[in-house]
Amino acid sequence: MMSPDDSVVKLIRSLKLLTGLLAVVFGLFSVFLLVVLFGKPEPGPDQAAGEKLTETKTADIARLMPWKGPSESDLSKLTPAEQQMVRYGKELIVHTSDYLGPKGSVKHLSNGMNCQNCHLDAGTKPWGNNYFAVEATYPKFRARSGKIESQAKRINDCFERSLNGKGLDEQSNEMRALLAYMKWLGTGVPPKQAPDGIGIYKMNDLDRAADPVAGKAVYEQKCQSCHQPAGEGMLASDEIHYLFPPLWGKHSYNTGAGLYRISNLAGYVKANMPLGASYDAPQLIDGQAWDVAAFINSMPRPRKDLSKDWPNPADKPFDHPFGPYADPFSEKQHKYGPFNPIKDWQKRHKNLDAR
Ligand code: HEC
Ligand code: HEC
Repeated sequence: MMSPDDSVVKLIRSLKLLTGLLAVVFGLFSVFLLVVLFGKPEPGPDQAAGEKLTETKTADIARLMPWKGPSESDLSKLTPAEQQMVRYGKELIVHTSDYLGPKGSVKHLSNGMNCQNCHLDAGTKPWGNNYFAVEATYPKFRARSGKIESQAKRINDCFERSLNGKGLDEQSNEMRALLAYMKWLGTGVPPKQAPDGIGIYKMNDLDRAADPVAGKAVYEQKCQSCHQPAGEGMLASDEIHYLFPPLWGKHSYNTGAGLYRISNLAGYVKANMPLGASYDAPQLIDGQAWDVAAFINSMPRPRKDLSKDWPNPADKPFDHPFGPYADPFSEKQHKYGPFNPIKDWQKRHKNLDAR
């Protein structure tokens, strides 16, 4: 038999248990509500500043589930003629210079680099600048040109800037193959959506300017063995394609390329370099990635006439290194940072515009 005291204690205990349970249920429900309202919490570039947070950020990002892309069995659902175009498109991404480089078998349009040098694993690596969102998000408005851009225009942008060459004829077999490949890679991605792992890894801001001198030391330690002391890379024995692509000099990307913005270069390097690094197993801390990017982009490279870019200067990203700007910051600060004051200024003035 229980004494009355015992049953009071028991009652209190079960009440405690009940409130505890209620708190847990309520907590879970609020998280669910927040996720529904605001989307999956993702570490954004504005969320954290400083180098100490690198490890947290890396752990956060390892929990994301990057999009995997289609499988070979998806390919077999296409007609044989379509399959052939997809395979040729992939071949052009992987071995661009064999077909379209200075000694290319089809045309001589580009600088000898391959698309895959920057769009890793044929454009399928998570945060390796992959192509999974291309089919779902183009045509789209891009502030750089001030126009709605088709996929073909965007592809030719990389030919003209990243491969410092000329664009493909939009009706050519090669362009149609590249488009077929992009379309296939986009299998299953809902329209207008960019799944996790797309494009380039977004870096945490530094609270200082990126430092080309410190970056040179990182380069000598971690990059030079492959990309060579003068950044020229190394050609294979056939002299048609690179074993290690150039990072600066006359055979590298030009000043209009995406990687000429150091946030892009740092993000690419952080998630992919030295060769073998990945977003969930990076080999550099954030400061090293920013500094080596500053060093690489301080070295000489081909220039592109950019006078037609960014018809509205207020749309220039914080790290676009060429004026005129809508804000009072110098070209030097736009190139190397610190970027937080620029971002704050841009935020304040966007708000004013919106009013
Ligand atoms: C030197 C590096 C480099 C090379 C080589 C390169 N690209 Fe790019 N590409 C980039 C960068 C950087 C971006 C912009 C990524 C961003 O802003 O997130 C990009 C973006 C793109 C996009 C848009 C992706 C999107 O989701 O919006 C396409 C399409 C593309 N490249 C195609 C190509 C093709 C085709 C080739 C080969 C002919 C090529 N690229 C070669 C660096 C390169
Ligand atoms: C073990 C050799 C190796 C090391 C070390 C290495 N890379 Fe690379 N890097 C490569 C190869 C190979 C590619 C092209 C990948 C492909 O085509 O699949 C590449 C591509 C690149 C690219 C894009 C293509 C280009 O030429 O612009 C950049 C940028 C880059 N590396 C930067 C770096 C930086 C910075 C470091 C040092 C932190 C580094 N790499 C260390 C082998 C290396």
